[in-house]
Amino acid sequence: MAHPTSDLAGRAQASADFLKARITDAPRIAMILGSGLGAIGDQLDDATAIDYAEIPNFPVSGVEGHKGRLVFGRLEGVPVVVMQGRSHFYEGWSMQEVTFPVRAFHLLGIDHLVVTNSAGGINADYKPGDLMIINDHINFTGQNPLHGPNEDAFGPRFPDMSDPYSAELRQLLHQVAHSRDIAVKEGVYAGVAGPSYETPAEVRMLRTLGGDAVGMSTVPEVIVASHCGMKVAGISCITNYAAGLSDTKLHHDEVKETADRVRETFTGLVRGLVQAIAHT
Ligand code: 6GU
Repeated sequence: MAHPTSDLAGRAQASADFLKARITDAPRIAMILGSGLGAIGDQLDDATAIDYAEIPNFPVSGVEGHKGRLVFGRLEGVPVVVMQGRSHFYEGWSMQEVTFPVRAFHLLGIDHLVVTNSAGGINADYKPGDLMIINDHINFTGQNPLHGPNEDAFGPRFPDMSDPYSAELRQLLHQVAHSRDIAVKEGVYAGVAGPSYETPAEVRMLRTLGGDAVGMSTVPEVIVASHCGMKVAGISCITNYAAGLSDTKLHHDEVKETADRVRETFTGLVRGLVQAIAHT
């Protein structure tokens, strides 16, 4: 039987071509912003917003608290594109669909990806409101967005994953955090499929296996970004304790409330990072 071929490259190129025709400044940095962390997208200068629904082949996210649009513009004078809202695997999108925008960004010539998310704290030293620089991840989803025929135009069949969250960008993040007096943790993001939160036993397992925070996004996007050679910086906002670490039940409202509370600090860290990347 012939291999299934999806013409992923062709579809991503169609998206990139559509976007190129709509913008004036080619961005260097793409940002994927998590639940309640989309504020930066509203702070761009000379902004052009494009709904995902308008962009050929883009998955359209329906999650509450996410807007579902790309915003092109300048942050700290640097041309960027911000994804306000992302599609998630738990919504029923395939991993290929979830990561499709990253491929389009690559074809736009973007070589830096900043990913943010809300995550549950599983490291006993973490509390809601903490910001964690992601230094690595563990893919607990049981899937991989590169499954299937390799897209040679993007990267190799067996991509290296030894520096998925660029050591150089992590160092920049620490410098920015220090100079802006922002307290940060650094740790491993355990990526799960969701949408149910973990049981206390699952959280103990994730902790034993090396996770510091747990969430339902980011891992697929970062795998695809690594595949096509992008440098990635990742930041988790610890919005709540993971199950079993506190007496309170998990609720998405708490995730949004905490994300709201740290918005200023979080935005400051991301702005500083963009400035620092532009100077490298
Ligand atoms: Cl506790 N678990 C998962 N999987 N995702 C989350 C979370 C927890 N808190 C925020 N996002």
